Amino acid sequence: MADDRWNAATDALLARTSELAADYLRSLPDRPVRERATLAELRAGLGGELPDRGEPDMDLIETLAQLGDAGAVAQSGPRFFGFVIGGSLPITVAADWLVSAWDQNSGLYVISPAISVAEETAARWLLDLFGLPVTASVGFTTGCQMAHFTALAAARRAVLLRAGWDVDADGLQGAPTIRVIVGDEVHVTGPIALQMLGLGSRRMDRVAVDGQGRMRADALRAVLDEGAGDGPTIVCAQLGNVNSGAFDPIDAIADVVAEYPGTWLHVDGAFGLWAAAAPDLRHLTKGMERAGSWSTDAHKWLNVPYDAGIVIVSDSEAHRASMMLQAAYLVAATKGERDNSDWVAEFSRRGRGFPVYAALRSLGRNGVVEMIDRCCALARRMADGLAKADGVEILNEVVLNQVLVRFSDDDAITRDVIRRVQEDGTCWLGGSTWHGKAVMRISVSNWSTREHDADMSVEAILRCHAAATAR
Ligand SMILES: Cc1ncc(COP(=O)(O)O)c(C=O)c1O
Repeated sequence: MADDRWNAATDALLARTSELAADYLRSLPDRPVRERATLAELRAGLGGELPDRGEPDMDLIETLAQLGDAGAVAQSGPRFFGFVIGGSLPITVAADWLVSAWDQNSGLYVISPAISVAEETAARWLLDLFGLPVTASVGFTTGCQMAHFTALAAARRAVLLRAGWDVDADGLQGAPTIRVIVGDEVHVTGPIALQMLGLGSRRMDRVAVDGQGRMRADALRAVLDEGAGDGPTIVCAQLGNVNSGAFDPIDAIADVVAEYPGTWLHVDGAFGLWAAAAPDLRHLTKGMERAGSWSTDAHKWLNVPYDAGIVIVSDSEAHRASMMLQAAYLVAATKGERDNSDWVAEFSRRGRGFPVYAALRSLGRNGVVEMIDRCCALARRMADGLAKADGVEILNEVVLNQVLVRFSDDDAITRDVIRRVQEDGTCWLGGSTWHGKAVMRISVSNWSTREHDADMSVEAILRCHAAATAR
């Protein structure tokens, strides 16, 4: 008897879904970079009460594809320059589909061996690309915020163990105080990770930065000297400021930290860590290999679909001990196999390292370097194109893929240009405040952005500036 649990209708559903997804991906270079549906239209289409009767799958996927398409901002397209958001290499979309089709709970080797081996290999390749110690451990997290959480949990464990306290067993109540020191331009996700770890988002000591937002190594020494000296201490540095793209002088910072034995150095390299893979940019990260932990993202510059972050910890024992769980019914790996859940906060988890593995295997080392270099060249091209126009100023040194633009040296005009660009739809970018002034942020992080995308976007931005200043 034929098994009707998988039939022609299910085949047709997946085939049609693949067509609909491909239609969306194909539209990315030309579609306006803004949503087409209003909030009211989306609520009318996606809201309402829970239906008593289900809908036929094929009708439903058509409806969902139409509404999802109308309500999507083309973030993965070539002219999305907002926040720091990468696209998705085609191979990574395909690999991600397989992950969903296989539906492997990928925490334990025993029930998802292929994902374990792919993550083990991706981990090794990442350490190689970044030039980090081969003995460091790697976890695949949902993003950089959870990478911070994981890294800082390991740091918290290690610095307290040195003070004779097992935080994972005994908690923080009664524990020696941990001093956390950050640069004044720390990304918001750092303090949130500290908050989740019971270290408090307001308890950090902040170190002065220079005009590009780089932590000053001399100021770090002064802040370290103000403390009790050898108490448990964590220093958080940053490679790639979310606004300017600037790199903390990590070699000098590592030198200073080395003068305070037992101090843990954590590096936020959400996108900047990728500079370590590129020979022309590597000097910006020199010395980072001396840190205790590193956080980065694959969903930013490796162009893997959301969500994909990466945590790396030099003290793999502290890493595992702060994340690992044990129970009688769990079949833990015993022969050196990788249990992916040992390295992240989630127990049950999708095989999120698999698309990362696919990206690295598809690009190879050279492809990664070429993608990083191309984005940086395009960022410089946009900065140069904009700087030529009257009344347009670039406020940062464009050392990476980030550009800060100010219009007519005026907050209201700068914000108006951003609003007009978002309405225009040629490209999408957002704003920020830099040294107390409103700025437009440009982040070039997408594998598919080409010179003509950069040029079209510069034209659109200048058109919006002209409109904003026309009286
Ligand atoms: C420097 C830096 N750190 C951390 C993050 C947070 O990354 P995620 O959104 O993956 O948590 C970002 C995001 O842009 C960032 O630029």
